[in-house]
Amino acid sequence: MNSGAFLMQVKASRARGLFPADARPYDRFMADTLTLWHVEHVNFGRLLDLLERQLASFERGDSPDYELMLEIMYYMTHYSDVLHHPKEDLVFARIRERDANACATIDRLSGEHATLKRAGQELVQELDGVLDGSIMSRKRIDAAGRAYLAMLREHMRVEETEILPLAARLLGPSDWASIDAAIRQFHDPLFGTRTERRYAGLARHIRGA
Ligand SMILES: [Fe+2]
Ligand SMILES: [Fe+2]
Repeated sequence: MNSGAFLMQVKASRARGLFPADARPYDRFMADTLTLWHVEHVNFGRLLDLLERQLASFERGDSPDYELMLEIMYYMTHYSDVLHHPKEDLVFARIRERDANACATIDRLSGEHATLKRAGQELVQELDGVLDGSIMSRKRIDAAGRAYLAMLREHMRVEETEILPLAARLLGPSDWASIDAAIRQFHDPLFGTRTERRYAGLARHIRGA
Protein backbone atom coordinates (compact mmCIF):
# COMPACT_ATOMS: atom_id res chain seq x y z
CA MET A 1 0.00 0.00 0.00
CA ASN A 2 1.52 3.36 -0.96
CA SER A 3 1.27 6.47 1.21
CA GLY A 4 -1.55 7.99 -0.85
CA ALA A 5 -3.63 4.85 -0.51
CA PHE A 6 -2.85 4.72 3.18
CA LEU A 7 -3.99 8.29 3.77
CA MET A 8 -7.18 7.65 1.81
CA GLN A 9 -7.79 4.57 3.91
CA VAL A 10 -7.30 6.57 7.10
CA LYS A 11 -9.80 9.15 5.86
CA ALA A 12 -12.27 6.43 5.02
CA SER A 13 -11.64 4.73 8.34
CA ARG A 14 -12.43 7.88 10.24
CA ALA A 15 -15.66 8.34 8.35
CA ARG A 16 -16.90 4.77 8.26
CA GLY A 17 -15.15 2.64 10.87
CA LEU A 18 -11.76 1.02 11.07
CA PHE A 19 -11.27 -0.16 7.49
CA PRO A 20 -13.17 -0.65 4.23
CA ALA A 21 -15.37 -3.74 4.29
CA ASP A 22 -14.24 -4.77 0.81
CA ALA A 23 -10.49 -4.75 1.60
CA ARG A 24 -8.54 -8.00 1.06
CA PRO A 25 -7.53 -9.84 4.27
CA TYR A 26 -3.90 -8.66 3.92
CA ASP A 27 -4.93 -5.02 3.47
CA ARG A 28 -7.49 -5.27 6.24
CA PHE A 29 -4.79 -6.42 8.65
CA MET A 30 -2.43 -3.63 7.60
CA ALA A 31 -5.15 -1.00 7.64
CA ASP A 32 -6.33 -2.15 11.04
CA THR A 33 -2.86 -1.89 12.58
CA LEU A 34 -2.05 1.44 10.95
CA THR A 35 -5.46 2.88 11.64
CA LEU A 36 -5.22 2.02 15.33
CA TRP A 37 -1.83 3.76 15.40
CA HIS A 38 -3.40 6.84 13.81
CA VAL A 39 -6.43 6.70 16.13
CA GLU A 40 -4.10 6.79 19.14
CA HIS A 41 -2.54 9.98 17.78
CA VAL A 42 -6.00 11.50 17.39
CA ASN A 43 -6.79 10.52 21.00
CA PHE A 44 -3.53 11.99 22.31
CA GLY A 45 -4.26 15.16 20.35
CA ARG A 46 -7.61 15.49 22.12
CA LEU A 47 -5.87 15.19 25.49
CA LEU A 48 -3.32 17.82 24.50
CA ASP A 49 -6.14 20.20 23.50
CA LEU A 50 -7.71 19.61 26.90
CA LEU A 51 -4.38 20.24 28.64
CA GLU A 52 -3.91 23.44 26.64
CA ARG A 53 -7.34 24.71 27.71
CA GLN A 54 -6.32 24.18 31.34
CA LEU A 55 -3.02 26.00 30.82
CA ALA A 56 -4.94 28.94 29.34
CA SER A 57 -6.41 29.47 32.83
CA PHE A 58 -3.02 30.78 33.95
CA GLU A 59 -3.20 33.60 31.40
CA ARG A 60 -6.65 34.58 32.63
CA GLY A 61 -5.38 34.58 36.21
CA ASP A 62 -7.63 31.61 37.06
CA SER A 63 -6.65 28.35 38.64
CA PRO A 64 -6.62 25.36 36.30
CA ASP A 65 -8.14 22.00 37.16
CA TYR A 66 -4.95 20.40 38.47
CA GLU A 67 -6.60 17.03 39.01
CA LEU A 68 -7.66 16.91 35.39
CA MET A 69 -4.17 17.91 34.26
CA LEU A 70 -2.71 15.16 36.43
CA GLU A 71 -5.10 12.56 34.97
CA ILE A 72 -4.04 13.58 31.45
CA MET A 73 -0.35 13.36 32.26
CA TYR A 74 -0.78 10.16 34.23
CA TYR A 75 -2.38 8.59 31.15
CA MET A 76 0.37 9.88 28.88
CA THR A 77 3.09 8.49 31.14
CA HIS A 78 1.32 5.17 31.75
CA TYR A 79 -0.06 4.44 28.29
CA SER A 80 1.74 6.47 25.65
CA ASP A 81 5.19 6.10 27.25
CA VAL A 82 4.66 2.45 28.21
CA LEU A 83 2.97 1.00 25.13
CA HIS A 84 2.63 3.48 22.24
CA HIS A 85 6.20 4.76 22.10
CA PRO A 86 7.97 1.43 22.76
CA LYS A 87 5.91 -0.12 19.97
CA GLU A 88 6.87 2.72 17.66
CA ASP A 89 10.53 2.17 18.53
CA LEU A 90 10.21 -1.41 17.21
CA VAL A 91 8.57 -0.11 14.03
CA PHE A 92 11.31 2.52 13.68
CA ALA A 93 14.01 -0.17 13.90
CA ARG A 94 12.49 -2.03 10.95
CA ILE A 95 12.08 1.12 8.86
CA ARG A 96 15.68 2.03 9.67
CA GLU A 97 16.90 -1.30 8.22
CA ARG A 98 15.03 -0.73 4.96
CA ASP A 99 15.30 2.98 4.22
CA ALA A 100 18.59 4.75 4.96
CA ASN A 101 17.00 8.09 4.08
CA ALA A 102 14.69 7.79 7.07
CA CYS A 103 17.49 7.27 9.62
CA ALA A 104 17.90 10.91 10.68
CA THR A 105 14.16 11.37 11.28
CA ILE A 106 13.87 8.02 13.05
CA ASP A 107 16.80 8.83 15.37
CA ARG A 108 15.31 12.21 16.23
CA LEU A 109 11.89 10.71 16.99
CA SER A 110 13.44 7.95 19.15
CA GLY A 111 15.32 10.58 21.13
CA GLU A 112 12.09 12.50 21.59
CA HIS A 113 10.42 9.42 23.09
CA ALA A 114 13.00 9.53 25.90
CA THR A 115 12.66 13.31 26.29
CA LEU A 116 8.86 13.16 26.35
CA LYS A 117 8.95 10.40 28.96
CA ARG A 118 11.23 12.44 31.22
CA ALA A 119 9.26 15.66 30.72
CA GLY A 120 5.95 13.86 31.32
CA GLN A 121 7.19 12.29 34.55
CA GLU A 122 8.46 15.65 35.80
CA LEU A 123 5.10 17.24 35.05
CA VAL A 124 3.30 14.43 36.91
CA GLN A 125 5.54 15.03 39.94
CA GLU A 126 4.88 18.76 39.89
CA LEU A 127 1.12 18.33 39.54
CA ASP A 128 1.16 15.71 42.29
CA GLY A 129 3.02 18.23 44.43
CA VAL A 130 0.38 20.92 43.85
CA LEU A 131 -2.40 18.50 44.83
CA ASP A 132 -0.45 17.52 47.95
CA GLY A 133 -0.32 21.16 48.98
CA SER A 134 3.25 22.00 47.96
CA ILE A 135 3.84 25.50 46.69
CA MET A 136 4.74 25.23 43.03
CA SER A 137 5.46 28.04 40.63
CA ARG A 138 2.52 28.51 38.23
CA LYS A 139 4.98 29.90 35.70
CA ARG A 140 7.03 26.72 35.89
CA ILE A 141 4.04 24.41 35.42
CA ASP A 142 2.74 26.57 32.57
CA ALA A 143 6.14 26.53 30.82
CA ALA A 144 6.62 22.78 31.36
CA GLY A 145 3.09 22.03 30.11
CA ARG A 146 3.49 24.18 27.00
CA ALA A 147 6.89 22.69 26.18
CA TYR A 148 5.40 19.20 26.46
CA LEU A 149 2.44 20.17 24.24
CA ALA A 150 4.65 21.67 21.56
CA MET A 151 7.06 18.75 21.46
CA LEU A 152 4.42 16.01 21.34
CA ARG A 153 2.31 17.81 18.72
CA GLU A 154 5.29 18.25 16.40
CA HIS A 155 6.43 14.69 17.11
CA MET A 156 3.04 13.27 16.11
CA ARG A 157 2.86 15.52 13.05
CA VAL A 158 6.10 14.03 11.73
CA GLU A 159 4.98 10.49 12.53
CA GLU A 160 1.66 11.04 10.76
CA THR A 161 3.08 12.68 7.66
CA GLU A 162 6.36 10.78 7.24
CA ILE A 163 6.53 7.61 9.32
CA LEU A 164 3.08 6.04 9.04
CA PRO A 165 3.16 6.17 5.23
CA LEU A 166 6.67 4.67 5.28
CA ALA A 167 5.57 1.89 7.64
CA ALA A 168 2.60 1.19 5.37
CA ARG A 169 4.98 0.82 2.42
CA LEU A 170 7.88 -1.03 4.06
CA LEU A 171 6.40 -3.35 6.68
CA GLY A 172 4.37 -6.48 6.03
CA PRO A 173 2.13 -8.72 8.18
CA SER A 174 5.08 -10.75 9.52
CA ASP A 175 6.74 -7.52 10.75
CA TRP A 176 3.58 -6.46 12.56
CA ALA A 177 3.11 -9.93 14.04
CA SER A 178 6.71 -9.89 15.38
CA ILE A 179 6.27 -6.40 16.78
CA ASP A 180 3.01 -7.34 18.51
CA ALA A 181 4.62 -10.48 19.95
CA ALA A 182 7.58 -8.51 21.29
CA ILE A 183 5.56 -5.96 23.21
CA ARG A 184 3.45 -6.36 26.31
CA GLN A 185 -0.07 -5.55 25.13
CA PHE A 186 -2.69 -4.12 27.45
CA HIS A 187 -6.07 -2.54 27.26
CA ASP A 188 -6.23 1.25 26.71
CA PRO A 189 -7.50 2.37 30.15
CA LEU A 190 -9.11 5.58 28.84
CA PHE A 191 -10.17 5.19 25.20
CA GLY A 192 -10.59 1.40 25.25
CA THR A 193 -13.87 -0.43 25.64
CA ARG A 194 -13.71 -0.13 29.45
CA THR A 195 -12.63 3.08 31.16
CA GLU A 196 -10.65 2.51 34.34
CA ARG A 197 -12.08 4.19 37.41
CA ARG A 198 -8.97 6.40 37.77
CA TYR A 199 -9.86 8.08 34.44
CA ALA A 200 -13.60 8.50 35.02
CA GLY A 201 -13.37 12.29 35.44
CA LEU A 202 -11.17 12.68 32.39
CA ALA A 203 -13.50 10.50 30.32
CA ARG A 204 -16.43 12.77 31.24
CA HIS A 205 -14.45 15.84 30.11
CA ILE A 206 -13.59 14.16 26.81
CA ARG A 207 -17.22 13.26 26.14
CA GLY A 208 -18.25 16.84 26.93
CA ALA A 209 -15.42 18.45 24.90
FE1 LIG B 1 6.38 8.59 18.76
FE1 LIG C 1 3.16 8.21 18.04
